[in-house]
Amino acid sequence: MIRMKGLRFVLPLFVAVCTPVLAAPDHPPGAAIATAHPMATRAGEQILKEGGNAFDAAVAITATLAVVEPESSGLGGGGFWLLHRARDGFETMVDGREKAPGAATRNMYLGPLGQPQPRKSLDGPLAAGIPGVPAAIVYLNHHFGRLSLAKDLAPAIRAARNGFPVYARFRRLAEYRQPLLQRYPAAAGVFLKDGHAPPVGYLIRQPDLARTLELIAEEGRAGFYQGRVAREMVKGVRANGGIWTRKDLREYRVVERKPVYGHYHGMRVISAALPSSGGVVLNEMLGILQGYPLKCAAPVERKHLIIEAMRRAYRDRALYLGDPDFVHVDVAHLLNPAYWAKLRSTIHNRATPSTALGGDVGRPRGHNTTHFSIIDRAGNVVSATLSVNIPFGSAYMAPGTGVVLNDEMDDFSVKPGQPNVYGLVGAEANSIAPGKRPLSSMTPTILETKNAIVALGTPGGSRIITMVLLSTLEFAEGRGNIHDWVALPRYHQQYLPDVVEYEPGAFTPAEMRGLRQRGYVLKEHAPWGNMQAVMWDKQHDRMSAASDPRRQGKAWVQ
Ligand code: DON
Repeated sequence: MIRMKGLRFVLPLFVAVCTPVLAAPDHPPGAAIATAHPMATRAGEQILKEGGNAFDAAVAITATLAVVEPESSGLGGGGFWLLHRARDGFETMVDGREKAPGAATRNMYLGPLGQPQPRKSLDGPLAAGIPGVPAAIVYLNHHFGRLSLAKDLAPAIRAARNGFPVYARFRRLAEYRQPLLQRYPAAAGVFLKDGHAPPVGYLIRQPDLARTLELIAEEGRAGFYQGRVAREMVKGVRANGGIWTRKDLREYRVVERKPVYGHYHGMRVISAALPSSGGVVLNEMLGILQGYPLKCAAPVERKHLIIEAMRRAYRDRALYLGDPDFVHVDVAHLLNPAYWAKLRSTIHNRATPSTALGGDVGRPRGHNTTHFSIIDRAGNVVSATLSVNIPFGSAYMAPGTGVVLNDEMDDFSVKPGQPNVYGLVGAEANSIAPGKRPLSSMTPTILETKNAIVALGTPGGSRIITMVLLSTLEFAEGRGNIHDWVALPRYHQQYLPDVVEYEPGAFTPAEMRGLRQRGYVLKEHAPWGNMQAVMWDKQHDRMSAASDPRRQGKAWVQ
């Protein structure tokens, strides 16, 4: 059973019931999974049925997503797996984030005159960090799983061999990256049909990827980071302008990190640690908001306060955050209630111009990446967000490997003040250095109250953290159910540009008028994100799961 630390308030959620509150059950009545693809959800389900735990299911789902959602994540990418172990309450984050190659240099994406060359950190193997997903799969299985690695990887190997049918979003993103995919014959051979994005329903078979997964199943990390696959990747990367070495691959290791913890009106928040900015920024926003009677605030006032909290926390992200193995980040200061009070004192009843706060952050975008959430029957929890960065990553695939390489190097600040593809700028803390991990926004999160545990997260580039914030507030304030939280229309502010982006339906006409009167520039944007959430409702002894209705994911409850 999970301990509640620092529970001081009775949460509004679930307190409105009149039945007497019995002691919370020790074990969930079943299991729940939500992922971005039905085949990945089925893989997790199958592993649980075979006696695996949530961590085995996480291995199976990670590997299957690499096969069936290759535009979003894969063996050539990285991610963060946030774990809660029921047996002893142990919590950790497995950091499988990509690392800059040993030959990386601070100015490697600048031209001779110091000018940024944005495509260089996005397209082709020079954009690729050393992948972490294969090492994380092996680590999760070895340290936390119950089944053999071969068993955990079996559904993914089958999916790679038998194929998956092209879905609309795959086709759209393959079309978007088509010119680049065409440049690399191995990638084009797998993801295109006669050089073009394949039609919906076309079967994508990946025998080389199946073989690489089998090598990992047989040899563990050596199957990927040493031997034939490593040789082919290094040879191919270097022949196409990249800088990887065999040593970079051999030396890659995942790191276990202590999650970032916070409390919001008695709810425990467990979230991603640096080098993801997610946990720090999420808890900083919640910390600022904690000082207001948000639940009772009038709608315009409420949104105004949330937007101003977003603005201030994203400013700190840009200025201070980076890989903690390389730079000192004063997380304790950013998460100190006295600092939040100081930030609150700068919030008035009109929009604060971002320029008045100093610093510079640009424009967000975000098309892929993936998240999954699991709770098993024992009460183990996994919340994991994985990525190759923009669709199909760098689009480079070394012949014979089936592995598309990421373009996560773009998440570094290639030059102070130079926005990356999500418009995020960074300072020195996120500059490029050999072996360093680029700062991420991925925010796998677990929320815990006396009566419920929720695991949630989403893709969406710089908007990830604000999506998690909005859903977290709904849960904490007891509004709606898990399906409402993932469907909730979203809005986002990331300091600069000084606009509030919103999905259709996020604001009523009256709220828009009210916000404009307070000085906000509002900009409607096509829907974003793909949230996957699961919940164990202890009070009603019920499991639930929800997959974002914006896309084709699948939720499963047992
Ligand atoms: O780690 C990060 O913050 C980004 N590479 C995530 C990219 C992402 O979420 C893309 N799309 N929706």
